[in-house]
Amino acid sequence: MNKPFLNVVIFTVSFLLVFVYICGLLTKISGEKAAVAGIGGVSPEAGEGIFWGKGKCHTCHQVGTRGSAVRCPNLESVAEKALERVKERSEQGKPGMTTTDYLVESIAFPNDYVVDGFKAEMPLVYAPPISLNQEEITAVINYLQTEGGEADASAIKIPQEVVKKISAGKEEVAAWAPYIEGDPEVGETLFFDTKSRAGCAKCHTVKDKGEKVGPELTTVAGTRTPQFLVESIIKPSAVIASGFEPYLVITTDGEYITGVKRFEDEEWIELATQEGEIIELPKEEIETISPQTTSIMPSFAKTLNMEEFHNILAFLLRLQ
Ligand code: HEC
Ligand code: HEC
Repeated sequence: MNKPFLNVVIFTVSFLLVFVYICGLLTKISGEKAAVAGIGGVSPEAGEGIFWGKGKCHTCHQVGTRGSAVRCPNLESVAEKALERVKERSEQGKPGMTTTDYLVESIAFPNDYVVDGFKAEMPLVYAPPISLNQEEITAVINYLQTEGGEADASAIKIPQEVVKKISAGKEEVAAWAPYIEGDPEVGETLFFDTKSRAGCAKCHTVKDKGEKVGPELTTVAGTRTPQFLVESIIKPSAVIASGFEPYLVITTDGEYITGVKRFEDEEWIELATQEGEIIELPKEEIETISPQTTSIMPSFAKTLNMEEFHNILAFLLRLQ
């Protein structure tokens, strides 16, 4: 790769990092402001506070340019987009929905309709660990109604099935406990020590520390259940986080490279490899590129002993 190009790349990447960092700060500030206000009841303002706070929606969604999470649909004007969704739902055999019904459905039964280009990865926000109650869900929907439409709380009908699950969810979280109580401080050291058997920071960031081959984990326990976290470490390929799908590239020189696609345009592709390297490949040097089903995250089932595993888990569970 020639030097001027490298300089441009370094400049662009640094610029993007600073931008993403500032966006992150802005989300934090705006999120905190809303959370501090702590408005209860059902109103778009209360819903906004939940969206950028307790509901953790902002860890996956942006609204316009607000927020820094880009791996899930941007919810700007979502009440207006819902007009299109309602048509599609009708063609799929669910006629007669209003736009508010769609918003309710996308939270009550997120997998019934999956936005094109995304995976069924939206969690049940009324189940642990987010555990919003009926009033909080109603408020969030009331807030989303204002994104391209009119707020009308009376149109929001939370299905009885969901109301029942809200209380059931609390029992589920109480029933789960690790076999061994881990030490989160020791877990943190293992996580960041890239020479240890764990060395998770080779691929993950927590609060701006570490590399970005895999998803950021700063608030992972806020949206994922303990069971999911256990599975992620032992069987990483069971569920592959969207935006981090693995690809196998065979170059025209016959070289095999496996990595996560970080960026792609008409001429270039950028891959983050298992070793944490960022490789840029011109498309003309690529013979084939094919999606894989095995995550580039290795399984730690045999690498970590029981104690190390539970220490790391204890650390992850703190990342709310
Ligand atoms: C862990 C990530 C994650 C969290 C947390 C999350 N979502 Fe989502 N959401 C998704 C994904 C992925 C999709 C797209 C797939 C789908 O349609 O189910 C989605 C889809 C949606 C849609 C449909 C958007 C459209 O264009 O039709 C709405 C509305 C929505 N989410 C609202 C919320 C709200 C409100 C919260 C917080 C209470 C929330 N989400 C929390 C991942 C998340
Ligand atoms: C070689 C790079 C690499 C290493 C090392 C690595 N991971 Fe990962 N991890 C990834 C990638 C890529 C993903 C996303 C694909 C997937 O879901 O498997 C991921 C996903 C995850 C997830 C799921 C996140 C989500 O929101 O879905 C968790 C939790 C996780 N890793 C924890 C860990 C822990 C703990 C360690 C250390 C013991 C670790 N990882 C080491 C690359 C890595």
